[in-house]
Amino acid sequence: MKTLAVILAAGLGKRMKSQWPKALHPIAGRPMVDYAIRTASAVTGAKPYVVVGHAGAAVQEAIGDAAHFVWQTEQLGTGHAVLQARAALQEADVVLVLYGDTPFVKPETLQRLLDNHIRAGAKVSALTVVSDDSMGFGHILRDAQDEIIGIVEEAVATPEQLRIKELNCGVYCFDAAWLWQNLPDLPLRPKGEYYLTDTIALAVRQGVKLSSLVIDNLVEVLGINDRLLLARAEKAVRDQIRERWMRAGVTLTDPATTYIDADVVLAPDVVIHPNTHLQGRCVVGEGAVIGPNCIVRDSQIGRRCVITASVVEGAVMEDESNIGPFSHLRPGARIGRHTYLGNFAEVKNSTLGARVSMGHFSYIGDASLGDDVNIGAGAITCNYDGVRKNHTEIEAGAFIGSDTMLVAPVTVGAGARTGAGAVVTKDVPPGSLAAGVPARVIRRGLQKGTA
Ligand code: UD1
Ligand code: CA
Repeated sequence: MKTLAVILAAGLGKRMKSQWPKALHPIAGRPMVDYAIRTASAVTGAKPYVVVGHAGAAVQEAIGDAAHFVWQTEQLGTGHAVLQARAALQEADVVLVLYGDTPFVKPETLQRLLDNHIRAGAKVSALTVVSDDSMGFGHILRDAQDEIIGIVEEAVATPEQLRIKELNCGVYCFDAAWLWQNLPDLPLRPKGEYYLTDTIALAVRQGVKLSSLVIDNLVEVLGINDRLLLARAEKAVRDQIRERWMRAGVTLTDPATTYIDADVVLAPDVVIHPNTHLQGRCVVGEGAVIGPNCIVRDSQIGRRCVITASVVEGAVMEDESNIGPFSHLRPGARIGRHTYLGNFAEVKNSTLGARVSMGHFSYIGDASLGDDVNIGAGAITCNYDGVRKNHTEIEAGAFIGSDTMLVAPVTVGAGARTGAGAVVTKDVPPGSLAAGVPARVIRRGLQKGTA
């Protein structure tokens, strides 16, 4: 029996009061709709079909090839949205429907709903939750035998119906043939919309089999309609992430001020100190110590690295390298084993070898540094000539004196040295000492550790 999933994400998200489509508002660094996509993929073993409309191109671009797309050019309600997927889902025997603004439904829950649906031979199955806070959800109507007979939206519910604590989560299973045959017959609601929720009453009128699964975990079915619910979802998911990593052997000295995005991967014995943000896709090796006061984004941090009060973005730190306080690794920075960066050291689009030392106020951009290079205080690469970015090569064992300006393109040879304040405009041969403005070679044949 082939099961395919549809995820509805075409709505405007009016209550968000945003120029961005609701589906793309991030939760723990991941677009909201991504969560439903992953859950649906896990349960069906196939890419889900995402219905897009409002700012659909942006949604499509952000999701990429994790899903198929179906367009709903006019947002005429959840029932109408599902109908747009009819042609694309011809192969399906069972259709799962999820809402893109309901990120935390667990795959196990969806699987249970599906199993119940198939076991019961139902045409329609709905997931429901019991909650004191109705959150604007539709209320579930049941008959005297406790069978589900309808869903009434909060806006049109009677006071008596509003007292019903069982709510519609917006997660459904349908017999595909029944769905495609009956969707076109949904009534048009006063607001000009076709509600998917009306399939329940339709099935009841036809006397076909329905089933429902009641859960009590409200967090799982939070529907993010506004910024308050967005913040509530963000907190819930961040708590889960923190708990998961602590259980996996990570120390968070102050969990409440540690922000770990959903796609971060941490090894055991990582220690994270307060006010630290691990964003995007980061991988952190065993025993690394990060924080306090760090932002690390889309970076790879090796084993036993130390990062203190620093910003690392799009960078790689090899094992046991150490930066901060106040270092900045920018995109394309790669620093080698045991390399050390201190205050106000900035590295961009450059590779630093092992045991490089760059202690104070310096900038390395568009450069390659060999092993054991020393960058003196205030030394910088002048990589930009106003038109293009030029490369600097500093070979192994070179010693760059304080306040040296390396005017790129330029090479400092292995074991060479530059004097304090040198403005280096020409290549410095290996083993020589260059000094002055502009710098000239004043000694040759330096041995390592002399000059
Ligand atoms: C919906 C349900 C409600 C349920 C709640 C659970 C309906 C009519 N109501 O209400 O019973 O308790 O979810 O969270 O289904 N969408 C489209 N195209 C449209 C309209 C909506 O793709 O034309 C998408 C939205 O982008 C959203 C989802 O469908 O992801 C749900 O729409 P929304 O307007 O948020 O419905 P709710 O009012 O929350
Ligand atoms: Ca909603």
